[in-house]
Amino acid sequence: MSDTLWWQHGTIYQIYPRSFQDSNGDGIGDLEGIRQRLPYLTWLGVDAVWISPFYPSPMADFGYDVADYCDVDPIFGTLEDFDRLSTDIHAAGMKLVLDFVPNHTSNRHPWFQESRISRDSAKRDWYIWRDPAPDGGPPNNWISNFGGSAWQFDEATGQYYYHAFLKEQPDLNWRNPEVRWAMHDALRFWLDRGVDGFRVDVIWHLIKDQELRDNPINPAYEPHQRELNRLLEVHSCDQPEVHEVIAEMRAVLEEYDDRVLIGEIYLPIERLMAYYGSDLKGAHLPFNFQLLQSAWDARHIDSLIQEYETALPEGGWPNWVLGNHDQARIADRLGPDQARVAAMLLLTLRGTPTLYYGDEIGMVQVPIPPERVQDPWEKNEPGLGFNRDPARTPMQWDDSDRVGFSNAEPWLPVDHREPTRNVAAQKQDRSSLLCLYKQLLELRRQRKALSVGRYRPVTAEGDILAFRREHEGESILIVLNLGSAAHRLMLDEGTRGRVVLSCLGRKAGEEISGALEISANEGLIVDLTN
Ligand code: NOJ
Repeated sequence: MSDTLWWQHGTIYQIYPRSFQDSNGDGIGDLEGIRQRLPYLTWLGVDAVWISPFYPSPMADFGYDVADYCDVDPIFGTLEDFDRLSTDIHAAGMKLVLDFVPNHTSNRHPWFQESRISRDSAKRDWYIWRDPAPDGGPPNNWISNFGGSAWQFDEATGQYYYHAFLKEQPDLNWRNPEVRWAMHDALRFWLDRGVDGFRVDVIWHLIKDQELRDNPINPAYEPHQRELNRLLEVHSCDQPEVHEVIAEMRAVLEEYDDRVLIGEIYLPIERLMAYYGSDLKGAHLPFNFQLLQSAWDARHIDSLIQEYETALPEGGWPNWVLGNHDQARIADRLGPDQARVAAMLLLTLRGTPTLYYGDEIGMVQVPIPPERVQDPWEKNEPGLGFNRDPARTPMQWDDSDRVGFSNAEPWLPVDHREPTRNVAAQKQDRSSLLCLYKQLLELRRQRKALSVGRYRPVTAEGDILAFRREHEGESILIVLNLGSAAHRLMLDEGTRGRVVLSCLGRKAGEEISGALEISANEGLIVDLTN
């Protein structure tokens, strides 16, 4: 794979550290716990680990409110634990990606503490402070992502500060060069310690309209939607100047070899592409969340893949995401049969796949009793279906009381409902989802066509999604049945091949020619190489 980079041919595995493995019996996962579970990740066959934030934090948003960018929260361990983990990840041949949260700090960050003291504070301009509107209300109509006004009045100085998320997460002012330099130093702190890259939180939010103009009303808003959607976010994010900020971050990474910059961006494709940057000097991988957001419909997914492929800038590397800590579990959305097809899709598409912990064993949304709700979003906008806790529950290692995650009561409920929805059971069962993921990851490593090959659409109808991957004489056909009825796909005249892998256990080696009979919920990988 020497002609491509690790973040191009590799697979990224996202760990939500509170929920992966508790090593010290406090019911919350930690860095040492992750280290102890590394043999599992090696066995599974992923190439890089992205860990959600573990920095010191009051945990108002579970680590996405950072109080110190250059340390480890005691809940998760120490810098020494981090170094040990990093050493072992690298010794296992994997890469380590950190979550970087530059848009906002915690309100307990010393920078904000200093900023709020007086209007003349040296750090006043590190955040976004404004006078009240003439009626005493907030300076503009912007809405927080978690509901309510995005402005918080601060008695001490009689001004409002802006927070795109919780009031405990004041937004930094990235128009101020001192903020940029301070954050670049934070990046270097971790790069010097050997991290291989960053997933940058809400990167499209970093710059806001200079004049902080009101956002226009969204005419398509419907009352069941989140409050944020009442307005069109025209002025509060995705501003042209953000690309300069990202290019500067990228330049910091370029001071080191082989590092990756991944951007978290929820935008339509045409806006997303700008985040590769002019001359590809922006994010290496602007996250592509289309599979999370689209109806599970073969025709629709077929066209979105093609639209994405076409929209990519020359040389821009694609990527696909099937789950993360902000979205409902994929196996819950699609059911167990299609979760297998989805695994096959994620790991055969062209582009770097990101896999969310637990999706490989089909973890589903875990019911959270009202008294155990943790997610601040659910607390702010209750009962509307925004709770992210159900997709953040402890990794299910076995079917013991605490699923092998901890020997204390875990911070979120564990899921006991299905005795085989855990690593131990599925490791034993060749037909499990876990073993399917392992086989797919292995195949992706063996077959260059799958990891780095070209993508070629194949015409199909109804519930069938088909495409080819090709690389230097190697040609692989992927046929996925996104429906629950059997189908026949007519292959082009003269097309012949052999089954490499079926997600329903069809025998490898079976010869295919002329027509391909595909069962309900089946996904097939067929080698067409002569
Ligand atoms: C995006 C993160 O993924 C989410 O979990 C967090 O709440 C917000 N950014 C705010 O940092």
